[in-house]
Amino acid sequence: MKVSVVDARLDSFKTELIVVGLFAPAEKLPAELKAVDEKLHGAIAHAIKGKEFEGEWQQFRVISTLDKIPAKNILLLGLGKKEDVTLEILRRAAGLSAKIIRDFCGITEYSTTLHDFDIKGTTKNERAQAVAEGSVLGAYQYLKFKTVDRAKIKVISQVTLVGDGVHDIVKKGAVLGECANLVRDLVNEPASNLKPADLADEARKLEKLGVKVTVYDKKAIEKIGLTALLAVNRGSVNEPRFVIMEYNGGGKKKIALVGKGITFDSGGLDIKPADGMITMKEDMAGAATVLATIKAAAILKIKAHVVGVFAATENMLGMDAYKPGDVVTAYNGKTIEIGNTDAEGRVILSDALAYTEKNVKPDAMIDLATLTGAVRVALGHVCAGIMGKDDKLIGSLIKSGSATGELLWQLPFWPEYQELVKSEIADVFNMSTMPKMAGSIVGGIFLSNFVDKTPWAHIDIAGVSWSDIDSEYVRKGGTGFGVRLLIHALENWN
Ligand code: BES
Ligand code: ZN
Ligand code: ZN
Repeated sequence: MKVSVVDARLDSFKTELIVVGLFAPAEKLPAELKAVDEKLHGAIAHAIKGKEFEGEWQQFRVISTLDKIPAKNILLLGLGKKEDVTLEILRRAAGLSAKIIRDFCGITEYSTTLHDFDIKGTTKNERAQAVAEGSVLGAYQYLKFKTVDRAKIKVISQVTLVGDGVHDIVKKGAVLGECANLVRDLVNEPASNLKPADLADEARKLEKLGVKVTVYDKKAIEKIGLTALLAVNRGSVNEPRFVIMEYNGGGKKKIALVGKGITFDSGGLDIKPADGMITMKEDMAGAATVLATIKAAAILKIKAHVVGVFAATENMLGMDAYKPGDVVTAYNGKTIEIGNTDAEGRVILSDALAYTEKNVKPDAMIDLATLTGAVRVALGHVCAGIMGKDDKLIGSLIKSGSATGELLWQLPFWPEYQELVKSEIADVFNMSTMPKMAGSIVGGIFLSNFVDKTPWAHIDIAGVSWSDIDSEYVRKGGTGFGVRLLIHALENWN
């Protein structure tokens, strides 16, 4: 999909459809729209007067221009009360309009003016970036396996932002949207098509962008001693991979991003019920987010030094699968008693975090993982859970989340919780000694045993990386959560 900018006015640009946002209550038309409406013999004012369109959030109406202006149609989109409009509302409006235009109007090329009015506390650049992001996210479809009537499927090919001076920022917004869409593609890909080696191949593609990519295969993983990752891999016929992607665009600090890359989580011998397993191709969302963030950083050439790391394996129940009651030694030498083979994410991350701290030597480390079902119970799909001991790091990530609309909520992390991951026979237990209590915190607390001194934050994305419903710019399936948040954090690091 092409996203571009044109220096034109509402009534001077040839396009299939142009999006115009209006606040509620829609009474007085902005001057430019009023001039257009006069050419349309007052069709817009008529719709407003008859209360057919009032500017309520998500309300929309398509008006044919009958060729009175070069644009063939106008989509009036309600934005709600002006004082309630934020960048996130604009992003959502852009996502929603993409869907309306494609699915209801059958139009695949359109223009938008959604960024083009003053909103308190926002700059023109911020608004243009938000509209570009929302448009790319909203236009996303996962069509790879659709074979019937393919020619009839509408795909948006071009979106143009009408208004000058925002070329570069629109390009940036489009790149961020595309990289989030890459996460969606990887998450949506069936697990039998996207095995650990395939995820590593996807990472290798970043070499073209100047990223240094190191891929460890099973033999190399044995050699460097990631025994916890190997333990989880034992039930699978497919080899694990451990991947390091380094992008150095300058910046004083080296930041490591670590992702959980379970390409399929059956639960292992503690097998999941069918309704819990059905979406478990999503269990590599953390790894995909890390990969796509490095990609975005490299394309945008951001001023940051960032190292992306992920551990990838399936969690299966083959004949040699790791078993409840097993004891596994992690990279930092600590022993893990396996209480439940379905708590495999923390097991592979123990190796990934300890290895990254020791060998990458980052100034800060952030991990992203679809770690616990409990975070969905606690926070739903509205925000991800963040935890750790470094309140400054967590605070700035939360701020980046608010700026990008990818919300984070901090969970408590008091040392008292360590009690819950104590093992009778090993150093730590991979589940809670009090099951069904504080499940997400316990996951994070477990991980804290594999980070020594480095400032670190753990983001549990199990509630936000997958959606069962379409909303404004979210589509069913993978959501692409996290790329925009992380790029914002890296760009604003201090
Ligand atoms: N991958 C799951 C967590 C998950 C659940 C992600 C739903 C996305 C949606 C994780 O490996 C898991 O199974 N965790 C267990 C931990 C428990 C056994 C301690 C869980 O949450 O039930
Ligand atoms: Zn699991
Ligand atoms: Zn898992």
